[in-house]
Amino acid sequence: MTFPKVLITGASSGIGESCARYLATKGFCVYAGVRTAEAEQALLSQSINLQQQGQLIPVRLDVTQPEHWQQLYQRLEQDGQGLFALINNAGTGFGGPIEHLELQAFRDQFDVNFFAVIQGIQTCLPLLRQTKGRIINISSVNGRIVTPFLSPYCSSKFALEALTESLRYELAPWGMSVSLIAPGMIRTPIFTKSQARFQALKTVLTPQAQQNYAAPLAAFERVLAKAPNKGAEPQLVALAVEQALRDPSPRMRYAVGTDAKIALTLRKLLPEWAFEALIKRLAAGQR
Ligand SMILES: NC(=O)c1ccc[n+]([C@@H]2O[C@H](COP(=O)([O-])OP(=O)(O)OC[C@H]3O[C@@H](n4cnc5c(N)ncnc54)[C@H](OP(=O)(O)O)[C@@H]3O)[C@@H](O)[C@H]2O)c1
Repeated sequence: MTFPKVLITGASSGIGESCARYLATKGFCVYAGVRTAEAEQALLSQSINLQQQGQLIPVRLDVTQPEHWQQLYQRLEQDGQGLFALINNAGTGFGGPIEHLELQAFRDQFDVNFFAVIQGIQTCLPLLRQTKGRIINISSVNGRIVTPFLSPYCSSKFALEALTESLRYELAPWGMSVSLIAPGMIRTPIFTKSQARFQALKTVLTPQAQQNYAAPLAAFERVLAKAPNKGAEPQLVALAVEQALRDPSPRMRYAVGTDAKIALTLRKLLPEWAFEALIKRLAAGQR
């Protein structure tokens, strides 16, 4: 029995792990990209009851490494039957005051959240074309709505949205679809990881900078600290990804979570000045 092959990046934790496990129980052959042998083992050891339903195959993939993509392409080509879907999920989140962020912080953010997505798409397109396949990019509500002090992350997701929209038009003549998943807050380790990087940034800020940004930085820190216990379960994103994989005519965007749906609707309906006033009020309320 053959299952449609999907490749998902960043499957060691959070949304990626949840999607990989879920899709494997739903009749897909999931190539799950992870960066370490430990993560490979972890995916296999917490075995799920796949029976005849699908397959879960951990593969080593640091999305910023072109040679990893090449090796993976060769493997997929050898395994045959093209690729039904590429799910670009791997991501990191980083923030701080723009005035004091190193350019490198923006570059690092874009390397994972944006440039690696292009690399993955370029590598996988010949295999995807064989199946009239699908590309699903995990964006965020921050792909359309900015959170102050999260500019590297928001910028990378805005760029991802532009890339996705452009590619959707470019690949339409081949009957291929490109979609965005836009989750709101989801309970994953991303916030704990961001917190660690934020603490590191604080240690290099000058006393003057710390003083200038004391109130918003404290507010941002409080939001990050509460975030790991808030938000929807990653499984909700897995359901949206499945929908994007199965819809006969996949949509451009799938918002996930009530918070995302409300925020994106307000973004669409409110005039720019009103939306700006809303964001300022929310930011002030956090201080
Ligand atoms: N959580 C949310 O509230 C939320 C909301 C909207 C959108 N998202 C998006 O959802 C996606 C997944 O995030 P998450 O919340 O599930 O966070 P997460 O649990 O931290 O997962 C991030 C995944 O990306 C992987 N990754 C990071 N850098 C990588 C690289 N260079 N190469 C390959 N893999 C790499 C991580 O692998 P390692 O374990 O090896 O680091 C991990 O598997 C991201 O694109 C994020 O922007 C999350």
